[in-house]
Amino acid sequence: MSQDLPTGLTLKPVSPVLGAEIGGIDLAAGVTDEQFAFIHQAFLDHGVIFFRHQSALTKIDQVQFGQRFGPLHRHPAAPADDAEGAVFVIHAHRDSPVANGNGWHSDVSCDPEPPMATMLQIHQVPQGGGGDTLFADMEEAYAALPAVTRKQLKTLTARHDSEHIYRGRYADRGVDDSGVEYPSNQHPVIRTHPETDRPSIYVNRSFTAAIVGMAEADSDGLLSRLFDHIEQPEFQIRFRWEPNDVAIWDNRRLMHFAIWDYWPGERKGHRVSILGDRPYFNPDAPDPEPSTVRLSGGTLAQL
Ligand code: SIN
Repeated sequence: MSQDLPTGLTLKPVSPVLGAEIGGIDLAAGVTDEQFAFIHQAFLDHGVIFFRHQSALTKIDQVQFGQRFGPLHRHPAAPADDAEGAVFVIHAHRDSPVANGNGWHSDVSCDPEPPMATMLQIHQVPQGGGGDTLFADMEEAYAALPAVTRKQLKTLTARHDSEHIYRGRYADRGVDDSGVEYPSNQHPVIRTHPETDRPSIYVNRSFTAAIVGMAEADSDGLLSRLFDHIEQPEFQIRFRWEPNDVAIWDNRRLMHFAIWDYWPGERKGHRVSILGDRPYFNPDAPDPEPSTVRLSGGTLAQL
């Protein structure tokens, strides 16, 4: 949906598929209702929106801005760094055992109600460069499928696990997770966006462990072909962070990958996520026109 720009704001799409940069806004100075309505529509239209040249937001400012989208999500594993339990410190450095988000995922898709959106401000970028984030549009990946594959995928459910990711992951930040049970939940392979009604492919290489009710070898084979399809570069954009840039992405539509190519460099920021609802598939929602993107790797004509 195209919309009128409030005075002083600019909007520049990153690619015809997804992403847009919004200019003329200082998030730390506060956002009017008119500006917020524009931001929210741009987020729905483009999947991920970027705000460059910001000043560092206080934790409370970031929390309050996140709350304009809805109630905040609490991470099942990472320690929170604020009274609301909502600020997740993103920090990787020489001694980090892992870097957060270093693999294709939709945030916390193992949760029963995964976060609908995530807002990240990176305060410190690695001195030698690197630390970009990739975003991939799962609505376009769905639209690029032939009708027969769409139909088959609509009948499937997948299991999203997290034990293999979260166990011991934040021990270096003082988290003792003995006795903690990490979430595992089943979600439809094709989900309907609750605000736009658009379908997307909702599996990702980090959390999605199996197709429910399928023999292990068949499930592994199908997921492997699906991952290859959705990870094609034509569905992606790549964001190169400058200090204090802000990104807000829609986890119901995108997956992302935070590249850890900067060790032993340091990258640091604050992330706040907004609670989503339980993923569902609505068979009555309209099916999109075929994608016009020209795929170098071809589409998934056969499951
Ligand atoms: C994440 O997956 O939430 C982290 C993204 C990033 O650090 O760019």
